[in-house]
Amino acid sequence: MCGIVGYVGRAEAGPILLDGLRRLEYRGYDSAGVAIVDGDHVETRKCAGRIAGLSKLMAEDPAAGTYGISHTRWATHGKPTDQNAHPHFDESGKLALVHNGVIENYAQIRETLLQESEHHFKSETDTEVLAHLVGKIYDDSAKGVTDPRRHKALLVEALRSALQQVIGTYGIAMVHADIPDFIVGARRGSPLVLGVGKDENFLASDVSAIVAYTRDAVYLNDFDLVAVERDKFEISSLAGERGNHSISKVEFTAEDIKKGDYPHYMLKEIFEQPGSVCDAMRGRLSLEECTAKLGGLNMTPAQLRDVGRIVLTGCGTALHAGMVGEYLIEQLAQVPTEVEYASEFRHRNTPMTRDTLVFAISQSGETADTLGALRESQRKGYRTLGVCNNVASTIARESDGGVYMHAGPEIGVAATKSFTSQVVILTLIGLLLGRMRHLSTAEGTCIIEALEALPEKIEQLLKTSDQIKAVAQKYVDATGMLFFGRQLNFPIALEAALKLKEITYLYAEGHPSAELKHGVIALVKPELPSVFIVPDDAVFSKNLNNIEQVRARKGPIIAVTTESGAAKLKGIADDLILVPDADDAVMPVLTVIPLQLFAYHLAVALGRDVDKPRNLAKSVTVE
Ligand code: M6R
Repeated sequence: MCGIVGYVGRAEAGPILLDGLRRLEYRGYDSAGVAIVDGDHVETRKCAGRIAGLSKLMAEDPAAGTYGISHTRWATHGKPTDQNAHPHFDESGKLALVHNGVIENYAQIRETLLQESEHHFKSETDTEVLAHLVGKIYDDSAKGVTDPRRHKALLVEALRSALQQVIGTYGIAMVHADIPDFIVGARRGSPLVLGVGKDENFLASDVSAIVAYTRDAVYLNDFDLVAVERDKFEISSLAGERGNHSISKVEFTAEDIKKGDYPHYMLKEIFEQPGSVCDAMRGRLSLEECTAKLGGLNMTPAQLRDVGRIVLTGCGTALHAGMVGEYLIEQLAQVPTEVEYASEFRHRNTPMTRDTLVFAISQSGETADTLGALRESQRKGYRTLGVCNNVASTIARESDGGVYMHAGPEIGVAATKSFTSQVVILTLIGLLLGRMRHLSTAEGTCIIEALEALPEKIEQLLKTSDQIKAVAQKYVDATGMLFFGRQLNFPIALEAALKLKEITYLYAEGHPSAELKHGVIALVKPELPSVFIVPDDAVFSKNLNNIEQVRARKGPIIAVTTESGAAKLKGIADDLILVPDADDAVMPVLTVIPLQLFAYHLAVALGRDVDKPRNLAKSVTVE
């Protein structure tokens, strides 16, 4: 989704602003722009398309100056055109503003502005209306004021007053040609972080944009405004109260967000899974008590014992992890668990009991729908916990407690390592709740051993990447794909279908295997392969029936299975992808990885832009 970078310091702003945008590319965008204050005027360069296009514009016609703002836009109001790209200006042409989010009442504000004075709008965006509103308030208040120090305060006040009229969400950065070395930011619903440097400061949508320059960060809260200068900053609330925020150390370095020798971030992140899975459980297993230790939940054993129901909510891949969690928590702890699409949950009246625990699962911790579900649950008085990767993200900060994934930055738009970390954490939650109820020490030990064996088994699996590539390349002419699994592997079918759709643009669906005969079988044909996720488990023979049903209708079959399963599928499946044997409870972590690789290799074979698939954004901060 849209990205913001702001800089004020002593270096040339242009290269820093462009570099920051490049580091935010993974969020998804369709146009980009920069505004730099050069003496007494603002220079802007912007265009639809990639940052490479913007860089070219900057190279051909450089903009000089030591403070400015930049933006990548993911279109909401208005098409992705040069005109609609940010920054946008006010009527005077001196104030430039970039914005993430949606101003819902922009049409009404526009109408009022036009009635009051002359305004010439050049774009179709809600952002330009906001720029005009802020500019008008500022110009009216600054008339006749000669003290330059007052202008800074008046600009902040103008933004505050404009935002008090706004209905909607925003992350904002703004500069004014008459106010040197000064940028103003604000947030509501769209993340914004302040990077604190030495004689220079930054604003960014996420820390990855600025971590190469500073690892000291202040995470702004909703309704915060920030006035930023080279050597100081001041945070205040929308209501005008002074803020008291602390500076945090960013957990990762610029090195961690480099691709290294990998051609794509997605591949790098798939290969990081032995480590990320290990980090998700590091220090959280107790062999002595045969259970998990999750101090971040901020709940006493008595409170945990009293949990009568669990709701797991999230979107996309996080929702699929939740679905695995539902099977696992009910199996291990027998606590009734439901998975809810965050976007649905927040708007419906799900029956809840007082002893319900709500988990918001989100890699970014910023997904608008998941955040909405979390806030709605809190409004109704339920205890809410986060399962997030981004430390200090909004969901992590607003939950009553939670479990961090510690998976490290995930840059590829297609989520991979965050999924396996989420599944591991949900297993830990099931284990913890189970051991507080009926789960025996032997069963607890069995789960712990299975978890501890995972990193090595994943290493083993990753060594087969070339074999998986060879299978994927056989299917470049497929028109789409169907994915099937049962029990814990049903959500893996959904996740594998999502991965394939996202990065190959092929049509794909995931289903419980048995649903085949209730309708999906009508789709089966030689051009539409079916992928069955069939470890040799208790439901293997049932899956085999479904495989035969597809085979009888000449549908090609790819089976993801264990060695003993492969022996039974010889001559039945067209292609076999092997996974190491493991306890059923941890099998989804193993079955999903070859399917991440399968989608990846097929996407590469089809020439797709794997890390930046069309239309997608990494962190979806609008509804
Ligand atoms: O950051 P989140 O985990 O909240 O993101 C949720 C979804 O937007 C995300 O999983 C999306 O489906 C990914 N592109 C999947 O690969």
